Amino acid sequence: MMFMGTCTGRLQPQQPCGPAQRAAGWATRCLFLAGRAWAAMLALLVSAPAALAQDEVPFITTPDRVTIAMLELAGVGAADHVVDLGSGDGRIVITAARRFGASGLGVEIVPELVVKSRASAQAAGLAARTEFREQDLFVTDLARATVVTMYLLPEVNLQLRPRLLALAPGTRIVSHDWDLGEWRPDRSLTLEVPEKAIGREKKSRVMLWVVPARLHGTWCSGTLRLHVEQRFQRFSATLEERGRSAPVAVFDGRIEGTLAATDGGLTTQARLRLAGDALRLESASHAAAAHAGRTFARQPERTGAGPAGCTD
Ligand SMILES: C[S@@+](CC[C@H](N)C(=O)[O-])C[C@H]1O[C@@H](n2cnc3c(N)ncnc32)[C@H](O)[C@@H]1O
Repeated sequence: MMFMGTCTGRLQPQQPCGPAQRAAGWATRCLFLAGRAWAAMLALLVSAPAALAQDEVPFITTPDRVTIAMLELAGVGAADHVVDLGSGDGRIVITAARRFGASGLGVEIVPELVVKSRASAQAAGLAARTEFREQDLFVTDLARATVVTMYLLPEVNLQLRPRLLALAPGTRIVSHDWDLGEWRPDRSLTLEVPEKAIGREKKSRVMLWVVPARLHGTWCSGTLRLHVEQRFQRFSATLEERGRSAPVAVFDGRIEGTLAATDGGLTTQARLRLAGDALRLESASHAAAAHAGRTFARQPERTGAGPAGCTD
């Protein structure tokens, strides 16, 4: 089954703000952000059909080759559960099931599109492995997702970012065209898409993020203290030993899922892996090599003054 073309639908700019946010007094901000976001989308629609009515904002479909590139970039397979936030006509979830054997959920606020998605899944014999829900994506439970796909808008992506960062380490997120601000993608590619309905360049950017384990803080192993500073998937670590005035090692690198690894080079190299609550120094070079194999426990955050330390 191939999906073609651009559909239109009535999108309500206030919809991206979930009930909880509204209840918390975020309505004004949400409306403002959504308005700016949709203005950005409208700016891209300069080449869209002129017949579009003022009050009818098109929803834009991801072209098939871009859908496949997104799912390939995420390495989607039969064990995956793909959640498409704002699933339109269901193409991403259906392609994930049909071509990659995954299961999936699409959430969409336009009822007709949900009906259409279910019918397409049924026709493709994929109704058992796919679900389409009429739901605000801001209230969707993402706990089951191993892959999250999005073709939304920059401000909406930024609103979603804290929830995406809180997903299980290793969860893959793929976005079509719009990024996640300062959380840089782990991988990205640009495709030539002559059939693209919007934009002058006829290109699509596809970006992948792998949710990093949350390692920020102090970790202890006997007389060793490991302090990790983390910003999204980048980290720097200082390994100290009680009784030594200088650190044993200082190193930095990238976190991908549960693995934190240095980037290579002549300085200290190390690999740390989170398993449950324990952080294991799988391998290390230079002075840290003597401590390879050690397992660290997280030190509770201190509320009072003074640096966190290891007690035994
Ligand atoms: C640009 S389209 C992408 C459709 C599909 N994911 C694709 O890539 O082909 C964005 C979709 O998000 C839906 N949408 C917008 N706000 C939403 C919200 N708050 N909750 C659920 N769906 C939403 C729109 O109706 C639209 O179908």
